[in-house]
Amino acid sequence: MSTSHLLILSLLCSLFGYECHGACAEVDSDTEAVAGRGFKLGCISCKRRSEVDGRASIQWYFRPKGEADFFHIYTYNEDGPTIEHDQFLDRLDWNGSKRSNDIQDGSIYLLNVTFNDTGTYSCFFNRILFYANYEYNTVVTKVVHLSVVAKATRGTASIVSEVMMYVSIIGLQVWLLIEMIYCYRKISAAGEEALREAANAEYLAIASESKDNCAGVQVGE
Ligand SMILES: *[C@@H]1O[C@H](CO)[C@@H](O)[C@H](O)[C@H]1NC(C)=O
Ligand SMILES: *[C@@H]1O[C@H](CO)[C@@H](O)[C@H](O)[C@H]1NC(C)=O
Ligand SMILES: *[C@@H]1O[C@H](CO)[C@@H](O)[C@H](O)[C@H]1NC(C)=O
Repeated sequence: MSTSHLLILSLLCSLFGYECHGACAEVDSDTEAVAGRGFKLGCISCKRRSEVDGRASIQWYFRPKGEADFFHIYTYNEDGPTIEHDQFLDRLDWNGSKRSNDIQDGSIYLLNVTFNDTGTYSCFFNRILFYANYEYNTVVTKVVHLSVVAKATRGTASIVSEVMMYVSIIGLQVWLLIEMIYCYRKISAAGEEALREAANAEYLAIASESKDNCAGVQVGE
């Protein structure tokens, strides 16, 4: 779904020459990761056009499935990225806004997903807006409920449906072929029968005719 959103967005951009650098769409994160692969934890908080310049820092928290508390796993601020917890050591990369302090995309990328990564992720945008005479603090929170699967179930489902499609197409064609052969046989058998009958009838007719003739001849003699 997110891919199609991006497609539509880029299409609109190219069509109407929008200010695409400023374009921001709050696309929801995917929620199903495949064990052993990478996964992008999406978190986007768009600024409104009217809002003044600001500076944002991002905090990510994680609560493993079945546990009560969140713990801090990641920070991104003007000093750059910091991984805050051993479970995610060397496994988190920044996937958010680049070359900007006024971050609108705070997404991170989780490498080598394990089943232990199942749970709830929460990201905080701490944004300071710089007004002429004062600064204003805002906090935006987003939540991602992540489930980890052994294989991409959606992929499997689509493969299964594709195979089913081919099976049914081939099945239909085979059925059609069998039906055609059956009908052809039936028709040709009926045709032969008809021919034979016709031949018989003709033979009989000829025979009887010749008999008559013969009879006539015999009578005549
Ligand atoms: C991810 O897994 C691959 C293969 O198991 C391994 O080579 C790589 O070092 C792992 N990366 C991290 C960051 O753990
Ligand atoms: C997100 O991070 C991963 C791992 O570093 C990288 O392969 C991928 O290209 C990044 N994607 C974006 C959109 O930055
Ligand atoms: C998952 O968590 C369990 C219990 O904390 C631990 O024993 C196991 O090694 C972890 N697995 C991975 C792949 O980190």
